[in-house]
Amino acid sequence: MLAKVFSCAVVGLNGVLVEVEVDVGGGTPGIVLVGLPDTAVQESRERVRAAIRNSGGKFPHGKVTINLAPADLRKNGPTYDLPIAIGVLVGGKQIVADLDDALIVGELALDGATRHTPGILSMMTLARERGLRRAFIPAVDAPEAALVEDVEVYPVATLADLVNHLVGDAPIPRQAPGEVGPSVVAESTIDFGEIRGQEHVKRGLEVAAAGAHNVIMSGPPGSGKTMVARALPGIMPSMSTAEALDVTRIYSVRGLLPPETPLLRDRPFRSPHHTTSSAGLIGGGAWPRPGEISLAHRGVLFLDELPEFNTATLEMLRQPLEDRRVTLARAAGTVSFPANFTLIAAMNPCPCGHLGDPTHACRCSAQAIQRYQKKISGPLLDRIDIHLDVPRVEYDKLTETRDGESSVTVRARVEAARSIQATRFADEPGATNADMGPRQLARYAPLDETSERLLRTAVRQLGLSARGYHRVLKLARTIADLDGGGDISPVHVAESLQYRPRQVDA
Ligand SMILES: Nc1ncnc2c1ncn2[C@@H]1O[C@H](COP(=O)(O)OP(=O)(O)OP(=O)(O)O)[C@@H](O)[C@H]1O
Ligand SMILES: [Mg+2]
Repeated sequence: MLAKVFSCAVVGLNGVLVEVEVDVGGGTPGIVLVGLPDTAVQESRERVRAAIRNSGGKFPHGKVTINLAPADLRKNGPTYDLPIAIGVLVGGKQIVADLDDALIVGELALDGATRHTPGILSMMTLARERGLRRAFIPAVDAPEAALVEDVEVYPVATLADLVNHLVGDAPIPRQAPGEVGPSVVAESTIDFGEIRGQEHVKRGLEVAAAGAHNVIMSGPPGSGKTMVARALPGIMPSMSTAEALDVTRIYSVRGLLPPETPLLRDRPFRSPHHTTSSAGLIGGGAWPRPGEISLAHRGVLFLDELPEFNTATLEMLRQPLEDRRVTLARAAGTVSFPANFTLIAAMNPCPCGHLGDPTHACRCSAQAIQRYQKKISGPLLDRIDIHLDVPRVEYDKLTETRDGESSVTVRARVEAARSIQATRFADEPGATNADMGPRQLARYAPLDETSERLLRTAVRQLGLSARGYHRVLKLARTIADLDGGGDISPVHVAESLQYRPRQVDA
């Protein structure tokens, strides 16, 4: 008899419906699995055989043919164990079950227990789109699945439980619809209040957090660059539910979603080491997987010691910084992942770190300095809105005992500025000032006569490029938003001009 069960593949971040067809017939005993399965799917035959036996069922005696359709889609991973097992039992007439409206996914252990399966959120989105009414999901993943509305989720602990449910012997209680809960703000181990001096650096990061602007910090060793970057999560705005679902989907597909956290609520903060491979940073692999830039989606990507990163890898950041997503071309087809992150980069001004430091002489040759700075290309720097010099803190400031403004206070201003942007870009949820193109700038960042004159002088004297000009306008918009959201005034333009790059032609 032929049985048909709906299951799901994940391509990039999207679910694709897979039909598991199982034919059990007479003839020489054996199992054939067709439909572009990879090794893990092939091994499913042995897992399913053991799981059925250890769950009290019988594996059919005749020839079992399993087809995963569509045949031209590569299937990977152990997701299909559970649907194959059910298909074998129905095909072998051990159970009778109506499965037309059901999605079944999950890996099986040899004893028949289900195991954590990545990508559940993407699969559930597909189930809803396809009008499937019920989803049978490994019990550990059921809370994640239940975040998607309109599909009934049944947490499956073991193959035997699912069989008993399907034949009506012991119904599995439905998973309660997802509790999204209130949004939370990320904890940071370092509070802004603990950072001594560096007022303009803290202000620069506040502007960055408020408008999602990219930042590069340059300064001598020990000036606190790494410290302020690590304090950043504490002033980042909390994520909306839509953003949280967006981010969770990526972590789920990467298999990085902790089972006890069905929905990620902390805005991502990723700080990959400079030895991270380009596939690790950008994404990739034969089965394209999201990289650090996608894990930082809607959050922060902190690249400490920027010049230490592989130059070719850094160049690959240009496209995602522009498009806010990354496209990976592979033999299996083109896949694209979201990558709308805020880049925070830190570097020394030269190899010894003391160029421009009034307290230490720089020992580097002019060539060495040039070679070091060349590692970061102009086009990459051009995509960074805020350039900050981080000088060494003076001893008196460092030993001050009075705390500065706390992260909570700064975050309140950041949140207020973000909510102004949420209203401004109501048609584009999650959009920020940093995303504005020339047309939006003309609309949302008009200048009064004095500001206009100030900017015109700056463009002439500093030789600002068109990109540099737009960058000043974007920042001025964010600074005005931190100031209540009214029109841009000359003060806002003046502050904005302070964040322009130094060495590089803007
Ligand atoms: N402004 C500051 N306020 C308080 N402590 C500071 C400050 N700057 C530096 N420190 C202290 O100095 C330590 C070193 O700073 P940090 O590692 O952030 O420097 P860095 O600029 O990243 O240096 P490097 O260029 O060598 O990476 C910090 O862990 C902190 O204890
Ligand atoms: Mg550092």
